[in-house]
Amino acid sequence: MAQIIDGKKISQEIKDELKEKVAAYKEKGYEITLAVIQVGNNPASTVYVGNKKKACEYVGIRSLAYELDENITEQELLDLINELNDRDDVNGILVQLPLPKHISEKKVIETINPKKDVDGFHPMNVGALSIGDEGFISCTPYGIIELLKRSDIDIKGKECVVVGRSNIVGKPISMLLIRENGTVTVTHSATRDLKEVTKRADILVAAIGKPRFINADYVKEGVVVIDVGINRDENNKLCGDVDFESVEPLASAITPVPGGVGPMTIAMLMTNCVEAAEKYMIK
Ligand code: GUN
Repeated sequence: MAQIIDGKKISQEIKDELKEKVAAYKEKGYEITLAVIQVGNNPASTVYVGNKKKACEYVGIRSLAYELDENITEQELLDLINELNDRDDVNGILVQLPLPKHISEKKVIETINPKKDVDGFHPMNVGALSIGDEGFISCTPYGIIELLKRSDIDIKGKECVVVGRSNIVGKPISMLLIRENGTVTVTHSATRDLKEVTKRADILVAAIGKPRFINADYVKEGVVVIDVGINRDENNKLCGDVDFESVEPLASAITPVPGGVGPMTIAMLMTNCVEAAEKYMIK
């Protein structure tokens, strides 16, 4: 029987720890603020943004919500970001992605002051991560490391195999696993004999975006499985990139979907907001 890594419980613990910290800062007169910008009304984005605002409220972080019209110009959005960059009372800036086609995500991300980039998407922060410098770590990979640490799973010396090389999960989690002294292999759509590679894994991170892609044929006994996927199967049921039913009996630990990596992303966003305030505001 595998240990089921309970992301809901661990994310709650993190939010409770932050809540205490934030309350103590408030007593000293510091208010931590996150600006959340949504452009248009993509229904999935509205849900994500709503959950981020709720988490802020729970932890005690002030959230400034900017709900902008779909037709706002790129320059108007950049002007707003620059205004928030200049405000001393704003610690974090988050622009929910995706953006409408006429706005360059690259330009938007690069306009956010790296010191307020709590998503960890700015090239300065991505670069800092890859050379082992301090900077903001993007929330999902940061959440994966925290899940492993808080489940007492050692990374040092382990064979870590990452399936997927996206900028928001595959690449940064690979960098973080290296930083934690894992031996890391990154696989992708052009990898030959994928099953042979994934079977070497002591820790397997699945970030592919294909429902139940990783089944029992891809893993060895005792593997720790981190499932980053959020997919809908043919019956519209939520499922991960891992076929939980067939992999769980072989695994020593595994994250479920939902309730594994998902809830960690927002907990780590809150962590980054507090870190932003601690680094650049709180004396
Ligand atoms: N869209 C989907 N996930 C994310 C995220 O983590 N941050 C932002 N800004 N947009 C997203």
